[in-house]
Amino acid sequence: MLSFFILCLASVVIAQQPRPCTSPSQWEASVHSSNPKLDADLVGQLSYDSIYQRTRILQHVKVGTTETYYDIITFYDAKLVFIVNMKNGECSRSTFDQPWSDFAIQSDATSLGEAYIGSSTIHDAGLLVTIWSGNQTIPLNETARYIQTWTFENCLPVSNIVFEPSGSVNYMWYYNITLGIQDPNVFIPPARCWNDKKFLIQYNLFGPRMN
Ligand SMILES: *[C@@H]1O[C@H](CO)[C@@H](O)[C@H](O)[C@H]1NC(C)=O
Ligand SMILES: *[C@@H]1O[C@H](CO)[C@@H](O)[C@H](O)[C@H]1NC(C)=O
Ligand SMILES: *[C@@H]1O[C@H](CO)[C@@H](O)[C@H](O)[C@H]1NC(C)=O
Repeated sequence: MLSFFILCLASVVIAQQPRPCTSPSQWEASVHSSNPKLDADLVGQLSYDSIYQRTRILQHVKVGTTETYYDIITFYDAKLVFIVNMKNGECSRSTFDQPWSDFAIQSDATSLGEAYIGSSTIHDAGLLVTIWSGNQTIPLNETARYIQTWTFENCLPVSNIVFEPSGSVNYMWYYNITLGIQDPNVFIPPARCWNDKKFLIQYNLFGPRMN
């Protein structure tokens, strides 16, 4: 199945060699992720801000028959993540140890060329993308192969398919991307998550106040 997929891609490849690129510094997208083996689906709203090294995802996850709604705000500079359970309002805050990396095509990715999603011969029915494969480290310190597509113009993510050694496949799609952060307050966790003074002195999370 996989080799069939790659064959299909290869047959539409155009001759020139795309270069890895980095996405714009701030954008927002609707995301959809699916892992059939885990019977898991995620739909969400992602805000990405490489200037302040923070992300926010408002997500609805369904694993089997269990559904959860979370608002997850991650500050890579302070190494802090806030997880707000949107069903009961509970907020948890924890530290983590993952460095920031810009949203980008990895410099060691292999180009599988370019192609139009849809059609280049019908007006407004085509999107020119670049296609990449490579290996990435996933949680549990395993290496997984991926195939990604990015828009040729502006280097926006379109999809990321990750083939894990366990045999599970994780699909991710990005839609309706808008540049910039429409409402910077999405990065401010509810007051109850951070209202003790000691915490505020220790962490200066929000940069210049936004409100
Ligand atoms: C990814 O790893 C596999 C197995 O180690 C290797 O065969 C393949 O060439 C690697 N692909 C890339 C793009 O580095
Ligand atoms: C992950 O694997 C690499 C290479 O095998 C190893 O050097 C590193 O210590 C491992 N990290 C963790 C957190 O297990
Ligand atoms: C994408 O944008 C269109 C047009 O604004 C909207 O109708 C649609 O619901 C959006 N899709 C998602 C997945 O957010």
